[in-house]
Formats: sequence, C-alpha cells, structure tokens
Amino acid sequence: MSIEKSYNSWANQYDTNKNRTRDLDQTSTIETLSKYKFEYVLELGCGTGKNTNWLLKKAKQIIGLDFSQEMLAKAKEKIISEKVIFKKADLTKIWEIENNCVDLITSSLTLEHIKDLDHVFSEANKKLKKNGLFFISELHPFKQYSGSKARYETESGTQELEVYIHHISEYIENANSNGLKLVEIKEWFDKKNESELPRLISFIFKK
Ligand SMILES: C[S@@+](CC[C@H](N)C(=O)[O-])C[C@H]1O[C@@H](n2cnc3c(N)ncnc32)[C@H](O)[C@@H]1O
Repeated sequence: MSIEKSYNSWANQYDTNKNRTRDLDQTSTIETLSKYKFEYVLELGCGTGKNTNWLLKKAKQIIGLDFSQEMLAKAKEKIISEKVIFKKADLTKIWEIENNCVDLITSSLTLEHIKDLDHVFSEANKKLKKNGLFFISELHPFKQYSGSKARYETESGTQELEVYIHHISEYIENANSNGLKLVEIKEWFDKKNESELPRLISFIFKK
C-alpha cells in the first residue's frame, strides 16, 4: 500500500492507539520549541494536528501541509482557527507556498517517509526567512537500523509503512549544502532509560 493510502487508513486511530513514538515526539516538540520565538510556521506532515494545537499557542499563523486527506480531515475537525491553514500537498514535489514567508518550519515523524532529504532542505531554505529555524523530530536512525518503522494494527494484522533510513550525517550534510547550520541536536529516550536505544532524534537548523 502507498504511504498516502496507509495514512488514510491509519487516520481514524492515529490519535488514540498506543504509540510511544508519537507521544515522545510531542514531548520533544514542546520541550525544544518552548525555548524559541516564532510567529509564522510551516508544519510539514502535520497529520491530525497533534502538534498544531501547541504551536498555535505561540504562533500568529500556521500552514500545515500533508498529503493524506484523511489525516488532514482529522486535523480540520479538531482545530478550527483563523490562524491555521491546512493544505493537501506532497512534500516530495515543489512546496506551493510563498518564498521567505516563515520563521519556523517543523517536521515531526515525516522524513522517514521521504527518500530525498536534499529536496526537503532545499525547499525549506526557500520558504524560511533569514535566521529562520527548521525543527526536525524523527525516529532515531539507531532504531531504524534495528528494524523499527512506522506501523499500526488493522483487523487483518500489522500494517508496516514504506520508510527510508536517514543517517545523522545525512541530515547535517543535506542541511549544510542547502545553507542551513545545525544549532541543536538531542536524543530522546523512553522514560529516561538511557541504557536502551534512543527512540527519537531532534535537530534545530538555522538559515
Ligand atoms: C507519523 S505521521 C506524523 C504526523 C504529525 N507530524 C505527528 O507528529 O503526529 C506522518 C505524516 O506525514 C505525512 N506524509 C508522509 N509523506 C508525505 C509526503 N510525501 N507529503 C506530504 N505528507 C507526507 C503523512 O500523511 C502523515 O500524516
């Protein structure tokens, strides 16, 4: 099944099923971004709007892009605000929004589904204002090396999604070659259990 179709079918239970990765991502997003000021935000792969609600507390305007109609429908049900625009868009294509228009781009648990990071950083550079930030929170590559990937349960069994492994160096090299510099990197563990593999990695890059 394509990634888009998989998320369309996951959408109904995405917010409610047991999902430690989703929950830890919310922690990493809030803890990291609480420290920064931002007004205009572009959220990549906004899904059901799990992080949009929190971003809304600090932002003047948010554009959420996602290619899953059903994930977006959930987000639109939950978040009714003049400050938020949800748009159906495929991030592997050109991002059809103005250039130099946001001071923060966020991407949570989305880049594991996108093979070409160079394209993502190149588009991000175009959309960010000078000194703008790009926050990424992803399944840690160590977890990916050990076989972890996005998956959910259906009546007919576990549905695994198509994913791409991204090494830490790959994020940093692609950011640098597209004019973005690393300012923060952090690894996130389950219940502070640092003897196990970190579940997530987060980055802040700056234009
Ligand atoms: C695991 S969900 C994360 C949703 C949300 N960011 C969160 O943290 O809860 C990944 C999201 O990325 C979206 N996505 C994956 N590949 C995409 C692409 N090429 N273009 C647009 N959206 C994409 C999916 O539709 C899905 O909503």
